Amino acid sequence: MTAQINGIALAYSDRGTGLPIIFLHAFPLNRTMWAQQEVALSSQFRVITIDLRGHGESDAPLWRYTLAQSADDVNALLDHLSIQQATFAGLSMGGYILFAFYQKYAARVKGLILADTRAQADTAEGKDGRFQMAQTAYKNGPPAIADLMIPKLLSPATIQTRPDLVQQVRTMIEGNQISGIAGDLMAMAERPDSIPLLKQITCSTQIIVGELDQATPPSDAKLMAEQIPNARLSIIPHAAHLANLEQPDTFNQIVANFVSEISKPS
Ligand code: MLT
Repeated sequence: MTAQINGIALAYSDRGTGLPIIFLHAFPLNRTMWAQQEVALSSQFRVITIDLRGHGESDAPLWRYTLAQSADDVNALLDHLSIQQATFAGLSMGGYILFAFYQKYAARVKGLILADTRAQADTAEGKDGRFQMAQTAYKNGPPAIADLMIPKLLSPATIQTRPDLVQQVRTMIEGNQISGIAGDLMAMAERPDSIPLLKQITCSTQIIVGELDQATPPSDAKLMAEQIPNARLSIIPHAAHLANLEQPDTFNQIVANFVSEISKPS
């Protein structure tokens, strides 16, 4: 499905009924990274997955991207779907967007699931890496970005033994336009430090991280768990950065338990 949101076409899927969970994907993927969450969780919940601006079937305009703008897109989509409040799950860049969303629209957040993400801003070296990657995307196209990103997203064991999963991730990356990839890199490089926000998060929060995640390692997850009041932390064995794809059953169970628990009448 597609909605006209803030001047662009935004693609999304909406499956199941019940309490809504909104899933925000990682860089540089698209909403199909949540396919296994959609199948497993839509029997219990309303599962909404979004192709963020610049990705998948959504428009990828050329020029300025910010995470706050992606948060505004999510907010406008909630209006479009007449959803007042939801639980939000963001993985990596999806988590960065959730920090921006929480800054602006906290009243809409029933619960937060922060997966394989971090609250710190980029270092100077990290920002320079974003610039270099944008140049690579411009010169050599999305396949070169897939070559760079796959070893950061999946564990060595997955890369060696699960060619279908590796191909699925490659197809997602290669399906993006250069304008969207460069736009994300610009937005992530400019994102603010969200550490000061952590202590102000008052909704229920579940943090998830793959034990082998090197992009946003368990130490980043522990930092968020220490700072966000009453946050819970789950570390998924045998998973790297894309924990939801590498260990979907464990990931789904954590999400289902969390959403069921926070939805019980108090
Ligand atoms: C992601 O998975 O969204 C990216 O690895 C995040 C990042 O590059 O900081």
